[in-house]
This record gives sequence, structure tokens and C-alpha cells, in this order.
Amino acid sequence: MNTRVVKPDARALEEAGALIRAGQVVGFPTETVYGLGGNALDGEAVKRIFAAKGRPGDNPLIVHISALDQLSKVISGEMPESARRLAEAYWPGPLTMIMDKADGISMEATAGLDSVGVRFPSHPVAQAFITACGVPVAAPSANLSGKPSPTTAAHVLADMDGRVPMIIDGGACDVGLESTVVDVRSTPVRVLRPGGVTPRMIADVLGEVEVDGSVLRPLKQGEIVRSPGMKYKHYAPDGSLVIVKGSAEKVAREICALYDESDGEKRILALEAHIPLYGNRRVFSLGADAKSMANRLFDALREMDAERVNAIFSEAVPAEDIGLAVMNRLGRAAAFHIVDVGEDE
Ligand code: TXA
Ligand code: MG
Repeated sequence: MNTRVVKPDARALEEAGALIRAGQVVGFPTETVYGLGGNALDGEAVKRIFAAKGRPGDNPLIVHISALDQLSKVISGEMPESARRLAEAYWPGPLTMIMDKADGISMEATAGLDSVGVRFPSHPVAQAFITACGVPVAAPSANLSGKPSPTTAAHVLADMDGRVPMIIDGGACDVGLESTVVDVRSTPVRVLRPGGVTPRMIADVLGEVEVDGSVLRPLKQGEIVRSPGMKYKHYAPDGSLVIVKGSAEKVAREICALYDESDGEKRILALEAHIPLYGNRRVFSLGADAKSMANRLFDALREMDAERVNAIFSEAVPAEDIGLAVMNRLGRAAAFHIVDVGEDE
């Protein structure tokens, strides 16, 4: 299959919509990461998404809408009160809510579950694409299963060349990490995957929120997960990855020691302001703060593989606000290999 990368003009969006209605799969940008879209009402189309990604069939997809009046095709009955309030505050945006599914949503899309994750993205190209499709769009992140989620059209092409007919290039993604997944069927609502809409932002609206215990640790053997995607090893780079947390100076000292002891291609992932602490060692900048770290992390991990780096040492950020999402993804990429050197006395 020949893969075309197109700019999001009116004609390309119309063609993309026609491809989706014909049961095909199209890569498209969102404010979080790129998605691999297909018709959520068509089980055969959804099977093509799983095939293109090489994704296990028991991991459900998020269904995307571009207007609230499309919800009736996606969920059964009314939105729970908590969902209605969160939607009012944070939709369109990087928030996925788990609700009871409508009959028309294919069983393939929800991996047989009676619930469905719904998202209304804010990216104008995502909205125009979904509207052009005329159907709810099931879409996982547009990476091959096991690779970091793509944050540019070039990342999508690297994984999907020859596997999908079209990729819509909407430039680099804004958030850079996947959406917050919240189960709104329980009270308090429960964050299953942290993202751009933080627990604090949810508590601001609802007064309370729970964060699933598996967010910052590896799964226990035999543990039953509420979000099937959490049980898979994700985002792991080819090389080994160690995270060091603590005060900036102590972290830099530890990372320098680990770096100097290791052989082969090695890199340090650090905040811009800390780069001088690493002397002439090779550093990939994660930018100014946790927000820019979220934005650059997946690009950094892809870069490590492209440069065949075999030893990676990363700074940590406090696991709060957007930092919680960063440490969830970084922690899993490192199989939670975290060295704590402590704060200054
Ligand atoms: O930002 C995002 O959410 C991106 C863009 C494309 O929208 N999509 C994305 O999809 O990250 P994916 O498939 O890579 O991750 C979806 C996550 C998985 O961990 C999956 O297990 C969980 O959401 N999920 C989906 N439906 C669910 C459901 N009904 N119940 C529990 N978890 C669900
Ligand atoms: Mg994914």
C-alpha cells in the first residue's frame, strides 16, 4: 500500500472522510498525539486499525467525536452528571471519559467491554477530520504497538509507511502525551491514565478525584487492571533507561557517575537549565519544565532508538500536575527503574 502524507486542506479532508466511510484507516493529528482513525461503527474497519498497529485485540480504542450531538451514537443514555461537568470544563481537550457504550459502537472497538472511552479533541484538524468522516472515529495512538506515541507526522510515517493509505500532517502536537483517561462511572471518578487534564483540574470541578494506584508503579503479578492498556509494556526504548530523582546537584552527580561507568552510545535526558552540570557529556534537552518535558519525551525516546543509544539516564520531575503524566510514561519506559538520591539536607 502506498502511504500519502497530505496537508489538511479541504480536498484532503474530504478524501480522508471518504476513506474512513469506505472502511479504511487514516493517521491524523490531535493536540495530544497522532491518532490512527477508523469508523467506530464498523468492526471490519476497526480490525484494520489493530492490524496496522500490530495491537493486541483485547486493548480497547478511544472513540473520538467533534460535536456533543454525536454522543448519542457512542454512549447509551445520558452522560453521568460528573461527566457532564467535566465536559463543560475541559471538552474539547485532552480528556477521555469511560462511559456505558451505545449498541452501535463495534465490539472490536471496545475489545468486548460494555464501556467506551470517549474524547472530543480540541485540535482544529482533528475536529475537521472527524466532521468530514460523518461517523464517530475510533483511534488509538498512531504508533506501532510498543513504540512511543507519535507527536509528528514524520513519526507516524516511520511506523505506518505502507500500512495505511493516508496520513494528515497537522504539524507537531501540543501536549505531547496521550489524553487523561478517567472512569466517570464510579464516585469519586478515577484517573486510569494521567495526561494534560490533571487530577487537580478534575478536583477543581468535582471536588474529589481518585488516581489509580498503578499510575506510578509496575503492575503486581495477576493484578486486574481497569484500563487494559496499562498491562502492556509501553514506550520502552531499545536501550536501557534509568531515572534518577532528587535535588538537581545530587541527581547530576549520580547521572555523571552512571554515565562514566557505562560503555557504548549513551545519553542524558535533562532539563535545559541543568545541562551545564553535565560538562561535555552528551545531553538531550527536555526543555524548561515538566510541560516541555511532556512535549519532548516521546521525540527524545524515538531519537534514542534512531541513534542506537544503549544507555539512557534521565532526570525526573515531581509527580504532580502534568509531571504525574510525565513520570507515568517515563517510569514505564524505564520499567520503573528509578534511583532516588534524595533532596539536599
Ligand atoms: O490522546 C489520546 O488519548 C490518543 C489520541 C489519538 O486521542 N489516543 C490514545 O489511544 O492514546 P490509545 O489506544 O493508545 O490508548 C487508549 C487507552 C488504553 O490504555 C486503553 O486501555 C484505554 O485507553 N481505554 C480505552 N477504552 C477503555 C475502556 N472502555 N475502559 C478502560 N480503558 C479504556
Ligand atoms: Mg497508545
